[in-house]
Amino acid sequence: MISEDRIMHTTSTVHCTFETYSRGQDTSPLFIHGDALTILKQLPAETIDFCMTSPPYWNKREYINQGIGLEETYQEYIVNLMAIFEQIKRILKPTGSFWLNLGDTYLNKTLVGIPWRVALKMTDEQGWILRNSIIWNKVKGGLDNTHDRLRNVHESIFHFVKVSKDYYYNIDEIRSEPGKAKVVNGSIVSATGVSGVRYRRQIELSTSLSDDEKKAAMRALGEMLAKVSLGEIADFRMIIRNQQRATHSASERVSGRARELREKGFYFLAYHPEGSKPGDVWDILPEDTQKRVEHFAPYPADLCKIPVLATCPPDGIVLDPFCGTGTTIFVAQNLERKSVGIDLSKEYLQIAEERCARLI
Ligand SMILES: C[S@@+](CC[C@H](N)C(=O)[O-])C[C@H]1O[C@@H](n2cnc3c(N)ncnc32)[C@H](O)[C@@H]1O
Repeated sequence: MISEDRIMHTTSTVHCTFETYSRGQDTSPLFIHGDALTILKQLPAETIDFCMTSPPYWNKREYINQGIGLEETYQEYIVNLMAIFEQIKRILKPTGSFWLNLGDTYLNKTLVGIPWRVALKMTDEQGWILRNSIIWNKVKGGLDNTHDRLRNVHESIFHFVKVSKDYYYNIDEIRSEPGKAKVVNGSIVSATGVSGVRYRRQIELSTSLSDDEKKAAMRALGEMLAKVSLGEIADFRMIIRNQQRATHSASERVSGRARELREKGFYFLAYHPEGSKPGDVWDILPEDTQKRVEHFAPYPADLCKIPVLATCPPDGIVLDPFCGTGTTIFVAQNLERKSVGIDLSKEYLQIAEERCARLI
């Protein structure tokens, strides 16, 4: 028998229950059964640190309890989503983040472009600031028997904030392990194989650098290699005038690098000693839906890890208003954050509750 202990079924006491939960020490999730809009309206303003959600697709799947996604037109669907996002903006703290995963739909053979229609409405009409548009590459798509277009293997994830500065963002939590420099034949070689030999030869043979510029370039190169050996930087690249392609715009009007290249003849790009930050294309396999009888939930736990780690403070509260089987909440609990999951379906919430209870 699945426990229902932590699932609220009435909306009348949402406000009080949330206040008590947010003040307490217990990080086990709070599940609230009901319609997202009705419940969000009862939550106090500026109390949530982080929201990540995957609303139902429009016109694609039916969930047990109907709900959003079954509207006659995509315009009505977007209106319904926007009402929910307005509430999310109200209850999100100024330092908070909202990560939205949306899939697209075909209508009369044309892609509707739902993710971007929604994202632009959010920035233009609700004043959200869109910080990233992430391509979730699902690597393998579902069955596709069409003969006149490509397979669809990606979805969009948008990262929105309310303020342009000082929202919570801990980039060091999501850096990849930096590569390590090593010593080869007595010389230091960076993680990507930079030993300085090739750059030295390019400087010596350069017809574009003056003698003084060559001396300065050699000296600066030696200093960079010393920093690598001391572990002050993980790696670097050197851009030498008329040797490497400039990494930024060649126009001095838009790039200080272009000016540096003209005035000094070279510049360096140093890699961060703590490792590089993730890019905006994520290759993550969808959740294995074969094992789930009740619910189609192609939203894997790995999708939520970077968002939670980077944008939810350790003592923050996570929200998913379309919680379903609770992936966002499960990740929040794994990462020791408090969390609130809302869903129209009691059955899905029970699955979510059971998933999270296994962690305790
Ligand atoms: C794409 S699923 C979410 C899947 C989820 N990420 C997971 O890990 O299982 C969308 C969910 O939204 C719920 N839903 C639809 N309309 C709703 C509404 N008006 N209020 C609350 N939940 C709703 C559905 O029951 C479904 O569980």
